[in-house]
Amino acid sequence: METQQSKAMDDSETEQEGLAETIMARRFYPSVLGSEAWEGYTFSDLEIRIKESTDLYGAVLWPSAMVLCHFLETNRDEYNLTDKNVIELGAGTGLVTIVSSLLGAKVTSTDLPDVLGNLRYNVMRNTKNRCKYIPLVTELFWGPEAEQRFPRATHCFDYILAADVVYAHPYLEELMDTFDHLCQANTQILWAMRFRLDPENSFVERFRQRFHLEELYDLPSLRIKLYRAWTKAEGTKGRGEAAA
Ligand SMILES: C[S@@+](CC[C@H](N)C(=O)[O-])C[C@H]1O[C@@H](n2cnc3c(N)ncnc32)[C@H](O)[C@@H]1O
Repeated sequence: METQQSKAMDDSETEQEGLAETIMARRFYPSVLGSEAWEGYTFSDLEIRIKESTDLYGAVLWPSAMVLCHFLETNRDEYNLTDKNVIELGAGTGLVTIVSSLLGAKVTSTDLPDVLGNLRYNVMRNTKNRCKYIPLVTELFWGPEAEQRFPRATHCFDYILAADVVYAHPYLEELMDTFDHLCQANTQILWAMRFRLDPENSFVERFRQRFHLEELYDLPSLRIKLYRAWTKAEGTKGRGEAAA
């Protein structure tokens, strides 16, 4: 006989699968291809067109970005981005930057120099005349550069957004230091994480030693989790409450 506990687990798995399907259904493809290839997404009741290329990690849109955008759009009362200072790390093709800008945030969108051209193009194409604040697209190589480009005395972010920035690359420590540097007393990190190999798991464990970590979504079919995190530094409010 089915126990109450196994029924609850089945219900939650079905719910998660439904959520994963809903999120992935936000992507559509143009029925008629013109001279330029793009993929379409719908967020904030608007069509967003993203141009990808296949030669770089950051030139492709990864499912984690869609998960984070879905969360931001469907939780906009609790995580109200209007007029908030937001920085995105590893913005890639720019969907998260675009959706947060459409939701009213002042966004600084960062990535490596090689992907900035395409990122800037997508961001401008999808935010022009649609957003309260024009997003700033700028270079950031994780590590010491974060301190030089965004000194804590003059740059205070309400949110740090990141989608699929942890994988088998050689800059995981620099990424951790960048989160650490940018995350101040009232900053919240919203981070969508795709699990592939061991480096991802050990990064989460090391991250948990430095930050408070809360799991917001667990989507096994996509192997993605969405986390909220905030600093453990002494003298802070402790729970990184959503900025008012
Ligand atoms: C897997 S892609 C994810 C892109 C985008 N966030 C998404 O979900 O579609 C990882 C991103 O991290 C960026 N990245 C990788 N190493 C980096 C580093 N050392 N400093 C800054 N960005 C880096 C890549 O250029 C790329 O845009």
